[in-house]
Formats: sequence, structure tokens, C-alpha cells
Amino acid sequence: MHVPNIVQLRAGGTSVVVELAEPVPRVLHWGADLGELSDDARAALRLTAEPAVLNSAPDVPRHLSIWPTEAEGWSGTPAHEGHLDGTATAPRPRLTDARHRSLPDGGAELVMTLADDISDVDIVVGYRLGASGVLAVDAAVTRRAAALSEGRYQLGGVSTLLPLPRRADEILDFTGKWCRERAPQRRPLAFGGHVREVRRGKPGHDSPYLMVAGVPGFGFRYGEVWGVHVAWSGNQRYLVERLPEGAGVHAAVLGGGELLKPGEIALSPGETYRTPVCYFAWSDAGLDGLADRFHDMLRARSAHPSGPRPLTLNTWEAVYFDHDLDRLTALADRAAEIGVERLVLDDGWFRGRRDDTAGLGDWFVDEKVWPHGLTPLVDHVHGLGIQFGLWFEPEMINLESRVAREHPDWILGPSAGLGSPSRHQYVLNLADERAWSYVLERVDAIVGRYAIDYVKWDHNRDLHEAVFRDATGADRPAVHAQTVALYRLLDALKERHPALEIESCAGGGGRVDLGILARTDRVWASDCNDPVERQAIQLWTGQLLPPELVGAHVGPAEAHTTLRVTADSFRLITALFGHAGIEADLTQCSPEDLERLAAWAALYREFRPLLHHGRVVRADTGDDATILHGVVARDRTSALYCWARLATSPAAQSGRVRLPGLDAAGDYRVRVRTDVGHPSAHHAAPPAWVAQATDEWTALPGAVLSRTGVPMPTLNPEQAMLIEVRAVTTGPV
Ligand code: DGJ
Repeated sequence: MHVPNIVQLRAGGTSVVVELAEPVPRVLHWGADLGELSDDARAALRLTAEPAVLNSAPDVPRHLSIWPTEAEGWSGTPAHEGHLDGTATAPRPRLTDARHRSLPDGGAELVMTLADDISDVDIVVGYRLGASGVLAVDAAVTRRAAALSEGRYQLGGVSTLLPLPRRADEILDFTGKWCRERAPQRRPLAFGGHVREVRRGKPGHDSPYLMVAGVPGFGFRYGEVWGVHVAWSGNQRYLVERLPEGAGVHAAVLGGGELLKPGEIALSPGETYRTPVCYFAWSDAGLDGLADRFHDMLRARSAHPSGPRPLTLNTWEAVYFDHDLDRLTALADRAAEIGVERLVLDDGWFRGRRDDTAGLGDWFVDEKVWPHGLTPLVDHVHGLGIQFGLWFEPEMINLESRVAREHPDWILGPSAGLGSPSRHQYVLNLADERAWSYVLERVDAIVGRYAIDYVKWDHNRDLHEAVFRDATGADRPAVHAQTVALYRLLDALKERHPALEIESCAGGGGRVDLGILARTDRVWASDCNDPVERQAIQLWTGQLLPPELVGAHVGPAEAHTTLRVTADSFRLITALFGHAGIEADLTQCSPEDLERLAAWAALYREFRPLLHHGRVVRADTGDDATILHGVVARDRTSALYCWARLATSPAAQSGRVRLPGLDAAGDYRVRVRTDVGHPSAHHAAPPAWVAQATDEWTALPGAVLSRTGVPMPTLNPEQAMLIEVRAVTTGPV
């Protein structure tokens, strides 16, 4: 039997199977690769996609379609909601076209067009399964040009949903606050919806980030998991939903999309709303398997930073607002001595910005502080062979600024009057072409004038009451338009300065998403440089992003944000596993401190090819007080691991801890690197292999390292140890 209307997308060990059924295509499978489906297998999948017809339920079997609505008996969150002045609330989409093709990267694409004659919209849904096995889903909803009604179609929301099986019974997502971003939270998947809505106008410090459902107890290295990320920098929604009747033959749905305010998207005839891309990934190798897929996908992008990531010094915690040419040139000199490759001048360089109450929006170099402009500093830094970066917060405005005085109408806020400031600031309406052009012209002029290599693009407040006045004076929701305008601004700046790198910062890690990262080159993970917090923040930021995209800076012994005092080696080892940098006043460092920083800089240069191209691995240590993470070369011939202890544990011994990612059949040698110091430990003597391998190569086979595991030292709290692993080469040397 030939089964022509079943499309299978296969790539990276994942299969997505869609039946091009009438009226709406159905998702038969998303998960493990099923091999090339025979006609019999296709027919069997279709047959087994018919669940029981339930009592007190629709009289036909329910299916989960690619665009679920009530028309198919779906009582869960619909794919889209909207109305035409209170009518057309029950959409009836039907398939009108489907195109399927292979992609050059080895993946495959299926584009389906649905027509909804009730709402008078056409919907184009794209499924793109990339070589990494990540499925990118997006949709465009277009109000027909020759619409039956003149009215505007008020789109309530669009959610992209994919099925989960019954065994996916536990949820992981993230929350957090300033200085504690991407804190994981887990819960059983119960009936009903687990919905995370973000109304901050950006993903926020408590961003859900990646919503994962998996088999109970899934870990870094084990368990089948399904995850979704919404690649969007505005309001958004993530959900897992399980109804008693299931989702067709599946048990639940996982998905998300943009969160729209009422009236935010009103489509006139001919207008289109495009959803953000939702990235879905499946793995049967636990959270590391999922991370691997996302990292592979990101690294395959043509614009992905692939060269050496410059060791960075950011001036914020070194000088704060105390900008002074002599002080900063002295800082740059110290930075050059220890091997810094990029210096970023943070907040405080522009007119009126002596503290955080004034100046935002006036993007002109402050002549009082910089009588000769930034040229003396920029020339000095460039003369040292160091790149120069500059801080901006382009979307923001202080009322205490010239631009606010001259253009109060550029500020987002209701006609009833501005609400509360946040960090003394408000938000510029970037969807206003005049404000957008002003900001572009200013950032462009400064970047061009000083040959700026890097922009730290900050965003320090939530968007509350983010409305603008339309031509009639009515308040209209602005977050969607603001997000689109921000993307356009970043694109325009990159077009004018193709070599410019941009960092996405938002009061630390408040805007970390793949929408902004399509236009920027790294994220600032957190304002917290305390290594205890940073170990966790970086571990979990790495669930989506590879280390080269995550800024990781070493701060002073006493962290400015927690006042915790930590050992140098712990801070230095922690900051190695990212795009490394320094956030400290080097002019206050002792010669020994500078020597240690120079040794660390050398270590970073030695290992960054591995750290920024290898596979990220994390072990399930069974003890929340300990972390074992590392990066293994793709050919598994080298690796660098960090064994860290955050707090004490009742257990005195670690037991055998596996070093994940190595070739169990390979021969390796191992050494503990002490370039940045020896960690202190809570025992009389370390495990024998550690004693032997400290700064000395010691042979240990892959089977022992990765299968049986090795005992780890019982470090004191807030200590870390660096383990280097290399394959023993058997061929001619
Ligand atoms: C918040 C950022 O996260 C900090 O790194 C720093 O740039 C300040 N803003 C400056 O105002």
C-alpha cells in the first residue's frame, strides 16, 4: 500500500512525522528517529494514531493536529485565538497546500498552508528540522487582502504545540531574580496546564528559558526529554498541558509563543503577524543530550563567533561611574600586562551620567569628563593591541536628559501620565520612527567615530504600562512593536558595522534568548560574579547556550553583589568556562594577584579552542553541593573538567564520579592543573590518583574515567579543581 500523505522529517537522530490529513495535518510522532519509514510503517503509524472514542466526548476519535482548535474537538489551549469585533471566534482551518523539501544542512522542511474562512485568515506553518535534530516551528497569520469584512482581525495569541507521550511525567523550567538567573525548578506533570507567562517586555531574570518535560528523574546524562525554547525578546508564554482525554493519541502538549496583549495585533486586510520561532528538541540522553542539540544548532550558524573569544576587561565594578582618563589608562596598562584582549568602558561616559539618575538617551560623550572625547582612551587601548568596547542602553531614557526634555512624546507610557520609574528610567518608543532613527544615528556615530569593536547593549527595566499614543491619541500596547523595532535596530547597526560584536545584557542576564542572539554575539549571564552563584548560573545557562556565547568574568575576592569572599582559584576556574573576562580594578591588585591573573589568562588562551568548540558535559553527582562539568573535544581526544564544591555535604566521600563524554574504549592520561592555585580540601590526604596526577600526567583508561568513575577529593566549600584529560596517542609521534 502506498501512503503518500505522510511526511517524515529526519535529522540528527530525530524524526517528526506529519500526516497531511484533511482538514488539518496531524502530528503522528516527534521524538526518536524511526528510520526511513516503509509504507507499512506509515500505515501502522496512521492506524495507531486513532485513540478510543470516549464516553461523553466527540463521536469521532480525537487527533492532535499541527494547529489544534475546537473544530477538531480540542479543549486545550488552541493554536490561535482571535475575533472580528466579537465574531469569528471559532476558527475552522483547512489545509490548502503543503511543501516538503530537503535542506542543504541535511535537515528537512515542511511548510503547510491553512485557510480559515471563518476568521478570513491564511496561516502558513513551517516545520524545519535541522541537522542537529532541533525542530524550528514558526507561523505567519495573514488577514486576506480581499477580506470578507472590513474590520480588523484581533489576534489573541498563537501557540505552537507539539505532543508529549505519557512517560514524560516531570517538568523542568527556570526562574530567578537579579544576580540569580536561570534557577531550575522541577515538578511532576499533573493534569491541567503548567503555564509560564512573561509580561516584562523581555524574557527577564526569571525567564522560563527552556521548558523541559521528561521521564521521571531525568538527569544531565540520562532520561528521555523534550524541550522548547521561545526565541523572542518580548512578552512570551511557555506551557505544558495535559488533559484527561489526552491530545489525540498523545498524552499532553508542550509549546509556547508570544504573549499578546488585547488589541496588540489587529490585522487589517493584507497584514501579516509572524510568530517567533519556537525551537523544539528531543533527546534520550538527558539534559546534556538536549544541550548538545542546541549547541550544535547555534554553532552551525554562519554568523556564530568561531574565532578566539578575546579575554575581556569590563570597567563596571572597577570604576563604576568614576570615569577618569588617567585612572582608565592605568587600568588598561595593567590589563595589557596580564593579557587582556578587549576592554569595555561601561556606563558613565555620556552627557550628564554621573550616577544612574540622569543621562540615558543623551548618547554624546560627556565633554566635562572627556574634554578630548574618548579618543585619548581609545587610542591608548588600541595602541596596546586591545579591542575597545562601549556600553549603551539604547532603549532607555532618563527624564533628566536633554532628549526627554525635547521629545517627551517618545517615551512609552499611558496618556494618564507616566507610571513609576525603575532604576530612575523609562523606555523609549522605538516603534516611533523618529526615536528609532535618533538612537541608530547616535550609536552608529559613536561606533564609527571611535572604531568601537564591541557594544555592551544593556536594558535595565521591565516594560510596565508599555503603551504609546496612536494618531487618535488612544493608548496602544507596544511590546510587540518595540521588540520588532529593537531587532530592526540591531540589524541596521550590524549592517553598518559588520565586524561589530554586540553583547546582550539586561541588568545581568535578563535578556537571554535565541531571538536576541540571532543579532548579538554573546550574553552577559549575570551581574553576579560570585563563583558560588556563577557555577549554577553558568551550568544552567549552558542548557541552551554553548560557553563561547556566555560572558563569565572573574571579580575581586569579595563579590560586590553578595559580599561573599572566595578563594582566587575558585573564582578563576569558574570564569574559565565561558567567554572569559575580568570585572575588577586591576590597579588595586598586588603583584602576586596580577601574576595569578596572567597565569589564568594563559590558561584561557590554551584552552579556549577546546572550551569554545567542544561538547559541554555535566555529571549527575547525586549531591547538590558538588558540581562536575566539563568540555570534551568533539573527537574525544581531550577534555577539561571542573570539580567544584559549593557547600559541605553530610557524605564524606564522593564515591566514584564519572567523567562524562570520553571514549570508554580509549586510553587517556590525566593531570590536575594547578596553574591558578591548589584548592583546599577537607581531608588528610587526597585520593591516590589525585595526589599522583597533580601537575603530572597519569595514565587512566577511558573505561575507568567514564564508566566506573574516579573518587573525587572532598574539597572545602567554595573550592574547585581543574582536571585535564588527553588521549594517549598510539601512532608515530
Ligand atoms: C547593569 C549591567 O548588568 C551591569 O553590568 C552594568 O553594565 C550596569 N548595568 C551599568 O549601569
